[in-house]
Amino acid sequence: MSSVDDARTPESAEPSAIAASTAASASTVRAGTATPSASAAPLMSAVRCRGVVKQFGSGDTKTIALRGVDVEVFAGQLTLLVGESGCGKTTLISLIAGLLEPTAGSVEVLGRELASLSSSELARFRARHIGFVFQQYNLLPTMNAAENAAIPLIINGVARRRAIAVARELLDTVGLAGKADSLPTQLSGGQQQRVAIARALIHEPSLLVCDEPTAALDGKSGQRMMELLRAVAVQPGRAVIVVTHDARVLEFGDRRIHMEDGRVDRVE
Ligand SMILES: Nc1ncnc2c1ncn2[C@@H]1O[C@H](COP(=O)(O)OP(=O)(O)OP(=O)(O)O)[C@@H](O)[C@H]1O
Ligand SMILES: [Mg+2]
Repeated sequence: MSSVDDARTPESAEPSAIAASTAASASTVRAGTATPSASAAPLMSAVRCRGVVKQFGSGDTKTIALRGVDVEVFAGQLTLLVGESGCGKTTLISLIAGLLEPTAGSVEVLGRELASLSSSELARFRARHIGFVFQQYNLLPTMNAAENAAIPLIINGVARRRAIAVARELLDTVGLAGKADSLPTQLSGGQQQRVAIARALIHEPSLLVCDEPTAALDGKSGQRMMELLRAVAVQPGRAVIVVTHDARVLEFGDRRIHMEDGRVDRVE
């Protein structure tokens, strides 16, 4: 049996407890009684990139998107990845989420070197441990909000009815009560983004990665989206990485990794 199976599996979790724990953490934060995520306990590394290079194409069309990135991301923190358009942010989080392979270097997630996993092990590792919020939401147009949000649980073997029941609870938690039966086209951009966040969290991933979750939102909605992410996503055992070039949301990060031209420029 692969050691990927040793890790915590959503099959063993009680689905209603999943929404309940997420909701509980949300209400704690709303009540303003949450302990700061940067606690005194030693930080646990969730992601370690060493010497990561990513080249696209070859010859005249060659682009070097990452030129040797060394970076670490910790559980229990919201880490912002910031930098100008084209500096390599999406490339880096795609490598971390196992959606792309590096040209050179190593990417370790939750203690596993991704390159050591077979493609089926990697698919299973991603399905169990990683949530990804895409910039364009990527909701399935023929499925309603609850069905979209339920997908990761169904992929992980939870019965469809139960998965949809959990999705409905989680949609309430992210502020979409009454929208569970709406199709994506019947929702605003911000509402679709909330469905995408619910979908990325429903299987309780240890790593959540969000690409520009506030890009399509006005300033106030962008700040509300970051508050929501802090409230429902950041938990002691989970690392959250948010890509942004929105200066108005920088205050929401526990750490900021600044990138420039395929390299990490500084971390603060
Ligand atoms: N699939 C691809 N094929 C070829 N080049 C690519 C590919 N994906 C990204 N690139 C190039 O790699 C570089 C980094 O792109 P990336 O999408 O990571 O930037 P980014 O920091 O996310 O930018 P933005 O803020 O505009 O989203 C760019 O020069 C881009 O053109
Ligand atoms: Mg990008």
